[in-house]
Amino acid sequence: MNPIQITSQSPVFKEAPDVLRDIKTLCRIANLNDSIWEDERREYLQELRQTWSKSKETLATGSLEKTKEYLSDRLQRLDLRDLYGCKIEEVQTAQKLEHLIQKFSLDVNSVLSNPLKKSTRGNKGPTFLVSFPLQDKSGIPQPQCYVMKWTQWNELCCTRIYQVFSRFLLQQGNSSRFLVPNVCGFDLEANIHETGAASRISMETQIQVELNKTLNQIAKIGAPKHPLPDKLVMLCERINGENLFDFAISKYAHLEPSQKVKLFTQLGRIALLDLIIGNLDRIVQINFSTKEDSYTLLDCEANFGNIMVEWTIDSGVEPAVFAIDNGIENVLVEDPARIAKYQGFLDALLSDPEMEAKLVENILASFQHAIATQADDLSVQNAKMLRGRLQEFSRDIETFGKKCFAEGLQEMEFLLHKTLLPMWYGTEGTRWREYLSATYPKVYDAIQLRFNTFIQKRPL
Ligand SMILES: Nc1ncnc2c1ncn2[C@@H]1O[C@H](COP(=O)(O)OP(=O)(O)OP(=O)(O)O)[C@@H](O)[C@H]1O
Ligand SMILES: [Mg+2]
Repeated sequence: MNPIQITSQSPVFKEAPDVLRDIKTLCRIANLNDSIWEDERREYLQELRQTWSKSKETLATGSLEKTKEYLSDRLQRLDLRDLYGCKIEEVQTAQKLEHLIQKFSLDVNSVLSNPLKKSTRGNKGPTFLVSFPLQDKSGIPQPQCYVMKWTQWNELCCTRIYQVFSRFLLQQGNSSRFLVPNVCGFDLEANIHETGAASRISMETQIQVELNKTLNQIAKIGAPKHPLPDKLVMLCERINGENLFDFAISKYAHLEPSQKVKLFTQLGRIALLDLIIGNLDRIVQINFSTKEDSYTLLDCEANFGNIMVEWTIDSGVEPAVFAIDNGIENVLVEDPARIAKYQGFLDALLSDPEMEAKLVENILASFQHAIATQADDLSVQNAKMLRGRLQEFSRDIETFGKKCFAEGLQEMEFLLHKTLLPMWYGTEGTRWREYLSATYPKVYDAIQLRFNTFIQKRPL
């Protein structure tokens, strides 16, 4: 059984040569976008559009050489010789030139909005929100929306675990579900493509070299000040929604009371899973104190950026909560001493009759911290109105949110015992346990240890 459904034509499920072809287009478009000065954007694009349409006419009526000369001159003036001019100069037939003009002229529409937006929320990455139209085989432009993130294997492996659990619940029709977007990864050092359906394929050297080159160029264009990124690039399906902070200021106030309850309960569920997996900085905040040499619950800022909510006002559809950025701290994978310290912390917490109350307090405090800190960053025009919405969010978590978090924690405890861990250890989980233990043994072993602690220390 494979709980990952291949649902779309997204790049996450494409083969490496197809991804390479697509990202070469993205790189060209991002380059064009980067060449345009903000203050003369409209005029510049207008001139470029005219250049392509005039060259089409010239080619239809005049000679190949005349068209090439015209283009060479115009593209030089628009400072686009490196991007387009050189390729045009190499062309030997009118048919090839027509094809290139057709292809390049579509780029003008692709830069009407930024095709490569760097996420300003994250600290690692770089993480880009990619969005541009790409022609399908019949020449129809299809929107390409996904996230491109430079990360480590740890994130990919942990995402698979969250993903499998999420799929188990979906498959069962369980209303307690949470969602995880599909991902794939390209390791440009080890030459591995981990596909969207989680299998590992070695890439041809030529593909690997070109992917590496193109991805480096993209990183340089989109995040020029960012230090040289890691060698693993993850593509992730784009969620059509906002992270929890942006959701709280934009749409939260429009939710029905019952939808708010569901939202908070979902967060409680994810919080318990995070605790067991060792994801310490999304909802529940757990900190390692070097002075005390131990882990403690600490009321620092929750990371609202790692929760996404997909919902359209008045759509009649319930909001969907996604867990993103699911990697765990490297020390909880690599460092035996730290793993043991966390184990000790988890043992004590899971055996504590006050665990649920302590976790709810921690969630509340870390949410309030995040609201207060991030509200200070609101410098937009309607900041007053947005602060009002945050106040509503803040008030709601104090009044009824507390109870929902507690319910979510309890529900996930029950689900882990009754559904998720039995599936994980049963035949449905075999493929995943085998795959993850073979491909990411350290992450797998560390998380497995914590699953066992949960079963032993917190029996139903
Ligand atoms: N799949 C997605 N769909 C839509 N938006 C996303 C997606 N993934 C990330 N984002 C946006 O980018 C932001 C940062 O993403 P992410 O947390 O993965 O990056 P990061 O650089 O690792 O951040 P961190 O500093 O938390 O580690 C999110 O808060 C969200 O706004
Ligand atoms: Mg993040």
